[in-house]
Amino acid sequence: MSDSLFPSARAALTACEADEKIRLTRTTAAAWRAGQLDAADPSPALSVDPGLPLQVSAVRPRALPQRGFDTPAGRASLFHALVHIEFSAINLAWDAVWRFRGLPAAYYDDWIRIAEEEALHFELLRDHLRTLGADYGDLPVHQGLWEMAEKTGHDPLVRMALIPRCLEARGLDVNPGMQQRLQAVGDSVGVGLLEIILRDEIGHVAVGDRWFRHLCAARGLPVVETYRDLLAEYLRGPVRGPLHRPARLAAGFSAEELDALEQG
Ligand SMILES: [Fe+2]
Ligand SMILES: [Fe+2]
Repeated sequence: MSDSLFPSARAALTACEADEKIRLTRTTAAAWRAGQLDAADPSPALSVDPGLPLQVSAVRPRALPQRGFDTPAGRASLFHALVHIEFSAINLAWDAVWRFRGLPAAYYDDWIRIAEEEALHFELLRDHLRTLGADYGDLPVHQGLWEMAEKTGHDPLVRMALIPRCLEARGLDVNPGMQQRLQAVGDSVGVGLLEIILRDEIGHVAVGDRWFRHLCAARGLPVVETYRDLLAEYLRGPVRGPLHRPARLAAGFSAEELDALEQG
């Protein structure tokens, strides 16, 4: 006898405090791997609000201050933003589990593993933020990632295209430039963390690519054209380069598709 995976996924998604969310993420992942949970419940999921720590205040993106990297305060603001991205990514992974039913068990394997990796990224970056004299919640954040989750909550094909295969893929593109800027100011710990994240995030984009292709094939849709049409529908403008081509190729994009994306 196993219990349904979905109430545990919902609990991890809606937990507000970071340490509680991480604990639920790890216990649920361990129970799933031990075969104690099943994804058999086909009943449609209700939308739920993702947890956010009480001390974290969300504002409109334009209200966020932009600072350089050359002072600890400037780097703290960068790492605060990255810590919030990882917190949001834990929520996005659990939402991908909770919301979309009736997919193969391998889909849930993938997104539960991603939730665990995002929890680790969150902890690593929060530790580094603390060495810079700040903590999660000290600065305002914006909820752009979750807004895309809401816009794509009706269809796993659209979700896979827009979150892992678009927004997380943008994270691959900007990672090397951030590493260079941190190296230039001597933050080698920060560089090392971004290197771990780059490696893991290639895997997350690959999961998005895998399930986007799976759902396109199941519906008889062409991958490249369907993706292009979804970007035009959901993004305000074209994908701005430069693309991290080796990382995107490793994540499953074809060279032809990357050429087309670069041409806008
Ligand atoms: Fe991450
Ligand atoms: Fe990720």
